[in-house]
This record gives sequence, C-alpha cells and structure tokens, in this order.
Amino acid sequence: MSSDVEKEKIIRKGAEANLYYGHWFGKEVIFKYRIPKKYRIEELDKRIRTERTLNEARALIRVKKYGINVPQVFEIDTVNSTIVMKYVHGTKLKDILPNLDDSKKQLYFNEIGRIIANLHKNGHIHGDITTSNIIITPEENIFLIDFGLHEYSDTIEDKSVDLHLFKRVLISSHGKDYKYCFDAFLEGYRSEYKKIDSTEWKAIIKNIDAIESRGRYIKSEERL
Ligand SMILES: Nc1ncnc2c1ncn2[C@@H]1O[C@H](COP(=O)(O)OP(=O)(O)O)[C@@H](O)[C@H]1O
Ligand SMILES: [Mg+2]
Repeated sequence: MSSDVEKEKIIRKGAEANLYYGHWFGKEVIFKYRIPKKYRIEELDKRIRTERTLNEARALIRVKKYGINVPQVFEIDTVNSTIVMKYVHGTKLKDILPNLDDSKKQLYFNEIGRIIANLHKNGHIHGDITTSNIIITPEENIFLIDFGLHEYSDTIEDKSVDLHLFKRVLISSHGKDYKYCFDAFLEGYRSEYKKIDSTEWKAIIKNIDAIESRGRYIKSEERL
C-alpha cells in the first residue's frame, strides 16, 4: 500500500467485515474489508468474499443513479475484498433519534420512506434497513449505507420483507417512537411508490402483516 492510501482507525469489527477510517489520495474514506471465515473452505471463502464485495459495490454505484444518497465508491479491491468509499460525515439515525422532536422525526422518516420506495420501485432490496445504516449529515441529508445484503427483486414479498425488518428494528430499538416514525415512513413510501404504480404499494404494505404472522425474516448473522 502506498502512503497515499492509509487506514488510520478501526471503526467497527463486524461479523462479516471490519471498517476502517482513513485516507485515499487525499480523500476521507472508509475501507470496508470482508474478513476471512476460518470455518469456510478457503477457496469458497475467497469466492464468497469477492462476490459480496462486488455485489455491495455495484449496488452502491447503481442506486446512486436514482438520486439516492449513498457513499461514493472510489475503489473495489477484489484481491483484498475491500471497498474504498467516501466517508460520510454525520450521525447515525440510531444515535440521534431519541433526541429529535416530532417534526424532525416526521420529516426524516417520511424522507426515508421515499428513499426506500425509490429503491424498491427500481428493483433494489436493501436487505438491512436499520437505524444504524442511515446517516444524517450536518446539512440534514439522509444517507443510506451498508448494502452488504442488497438483492435485486421485483416481488412484493421481497419488498415487504425489507419493510418488515425495518419495522422490527423500530419496535425493538425505538419502541417509544415506533408508531409515529413507522407511520411517517409508510406515508413517505406510499407517496413515492404511487408515482409509478397506484396499487402495488398497497399489496406491499398489506403483506407486512402476513409476514409477521408467519414469522418470516432473515438475520444477516444467519448467513453462511
Ligand atoms: N461511508 C461511510 N461513512 C461513514 N461511516 C460509515 C460508512 N460506512 C460505514 N460506516 C460506519 O461503519 C459502521 C458499520 O458499517 P456497515 O457498512 O454498516 O457494516 P456492518 O455490516 O458491520 O453493519 C456503520 O454503522 C457506520 O457507523
Ligand atoms: Mg451496518
């Protein structure tokens, strides 16, 4: 690694990836490095990490085209299973949510609903919508991060599962704010989705309850 590229600080040690803050040719960046898993056969492990690195990087690049705020990808290093992306200054929604007044909650969750509808109507499933994967910048722009579980799908079921996960996160981590925030979110989702289709959003939202009763959800840690 040349001195133009420097990992300076570890931000997070995750189950699947370690994240470092650093610099890349004068830019403030995050290095997302997918770590080897000893329990997987080496060759298979390498393939999985390469595929997931590519999948996440491609998703970030593609969804940016719809005007969604996601970190810009600077480099994809498949040899080291690393994505170099722009460091987004701001605070995780998870950390600021308890201190927001109602009008800000309304504003942010409505906008998040629009962002997710924009993803969904273009065939992208985020796969891990949580308040830790949303960053609010000092200018109050909303950034979506962590496309590690991203998939392509046009089915109602997959879109509902995406929304259902977010609902569960809000209930478990922000129970007090859940109802208000999720309603604002669905309102934003509906108003954005409606622009292309007047009925599909209804089926997607209705199906959240069906998923709930079936208890169908996938947690990222349950993946191979
Ligand atoms: N582009 C970014 N800019 C700023 N912080 C980031 C960025 N990407 C990730 N982070 C920080 O690192 C944490 C973990 O990154 P994430 O991509 O969500 O990986 P994980 O799969 O471990 O959840 C995030 O919650 C956030 O705090
Ligand atoms: Mg995350």
